[in-house]
Amino acid sequence: MKVLVIGSGGREHALVWKIAQSKAVDKLYCAPGNPGMAEHAELVQIGSDDLSKLRNFAKENKVDLTLVGPEDPLAHGIVDEFRRSGLKVFGPTAKAAELEGSKVFCKQILHKHAVPTAAFRVFDRAGRAKEYIKSVGAPIVVKADGLAKGKGVIVCATEEEACDAVDLIMKKKEFGDAGDRVLVEQCLVGEEASVLAFTDGKTIMPMESAQDHKPIFDGDKGPNTGGMGAYSPAPVVTDKLSRIVEEKILVPTVHAMNREERPYLGVLYAGLMIDENGPQVLEFNVRFGDPETQPIVMRMKSDLVPVLMATAEGRLEEAELEWHPQAAVCVVMASGGYPGSYEKGKEITGLDEANAMEDVVVFHAGTARKDGKIVTNGGRVLGVTALGDGIAAAQARAYEAVKKIHFEGAQYRTDIGAKALNRGDA
Ligand code: AMP
Ligand code: GLY
Repeated sequence: MKVLVIGSGGREHALVWKIAQSKAVDKLYCAPGNPGMAEHAELVQIGSDDLSKLRNFAKENKVDLTLVGPEDPLAHGIVDEFRRSGLKVFGPTAKAAELEGSKVFCKQILHKHAVPTAAFRVFDRAGRAKEYIKSVGAPIVVKADGLAKGKGVIVCATEEEACDAVDLIMKKKEFGDAGDRVLVEQCLVGEEASVLAFTDGKTIMPMESAQDHKPIFDGDKGPNTGGMGAYSPAPVVTDKLSRIVEEKILVPTVHAMNREERPYLGVLYAGLMIDENGPQVLEFNVRFGDPETQPIVMRMKSDLVPVLMATAEGRLEEAELEWHPQAAVCVVMASGGYPGSYEKGKEITGLDEANAMEDVVVFHAGTARKDGKIVTNGGRVLGVTALGDGIAAAQARAYEAVKKIHFEGAQYRTDIGAKALNRGDA
C-alpha cells in the first residue's frame, strides 16, 4: 500500500522511520518532509497547510492512507477535505480538533463532563483578566486560547508576571489571534506526564507513557518551548495510574466528544499533572506529541501501519500493540536563541557517527540540505534518541550520541531523564 505522512518535524521523521519498516507499505511519501526523512520516503514539495494540493496529490497517486502529523492542518480541516474526496486519513476532523485548537473549548468540555482539570476562568478583555488575577493572587497560569506552537502558556510566580502575560497575549498579540481570549488557570503542582492513545471513537488503545521537558533550560528553568526532550516510559505513570487515566480521563473525553457530535478519531494526547489526588488534564493535543513520539516509536514492537489503518477504518478493536521493554530517551538539540529568535543555515557535523551507534536514531526536525551538507533550518533541529535497558542506560547512550554532533550555537538540556532517575524506580 501507499502511505503519505504530512509534516516536517522530528515527530514526522520518527513516524516515517517506523512506517518504512512495515511490510504492508511499498511506497511512502512525505510532504514536505526534511532531509532525514528522505532516507525512508519520497519527499513531496507541498507545504503541510496546502490542503487542496495535498488532497489532489493523494488522489492522483492513489494513496491508501494519509497520516497527519501537526495540529495546524487538522485544525484547518484536512481530514474533512480528504474524506470528502473518499481518501482514507488518520486524524480528527476540524470540529474534533478544536479540543487542541481552542483551550477554552477544551476546558468547557472537561468541566461539563467532570474530567479532572485545574479551575479556570475565561476572559476576552485584558482589564477583567487582570482584576481577576489580583483577586485570586499568584502563582497562576495564563494561557492564550488558540494554537501557539506550544508556547502560549505562561506559568506566573507573581501577580505582576501574570498581568504582563495577559498584556503579552492580548495587547501585544504575541501569538496573533490565538490571544483574542485568555484562560486564567489555577496553578497545579506535581509531576507531568503524557499519555497518548489511539482511538476510533469507540475503542481506546493507550500507548506507553512518556514525559516531555518543556522549559528551555535544565531544572525546568526558562520559557516553555515545543519540548526539549522526552523519555518513555514515565515511571510516574504506574499501572494503577494508567487505569485511572483511562477510566477518568480518556473514556469520558471520547464519550463527551461523541455527545457533542464531534466524534474523535486519531491520537488523543493527554498532557497530565499528577499529584497525590491523581491525574488532572493540563491540555489535550489532537495528534502525536513532539518529541514524545520519538522515544515512543522506538519502543514500539508491533507494526504501526495496521493500527493506523484500523483506527482510520473504525475497527480499532481488532488491532494489537506490543512494546519493547527497554526505555528510550530523546534529547533535542536546538538552535542558539530558541525559543526566541535564532539563526539558520549552520552546518551540522557528526550525524553519521551518532547514527552508527547501536540503538541510536537521530531524528531530524529543523534541518535542510544545502550544497550537499545538512544545515540547521529551525528552532528544534534534531531529536537524538536512544534505547537502553532502563532510563539511565538510554540516557547515557543518547548523550554519548549528542556529543558526536556539532553545529554553531547548539543548545540542549543535560538533564533529560533525570526526573525519572531521581524517583529511584526507573
Ligand atoms: P500546555 O501547553 O497547556 O500543556 O502547557 C504547557 C506547560 O505549562 C505544561 O506542560 C505545564 O508545565 C505548564 N502548565 C500548564 N497548565 C498548568 C497549570 N494549570 N498548572 C501548572 N502548570 C501548568
Ligand atoms: N511535546 C508537546 C507537544 O507535542 O505539544
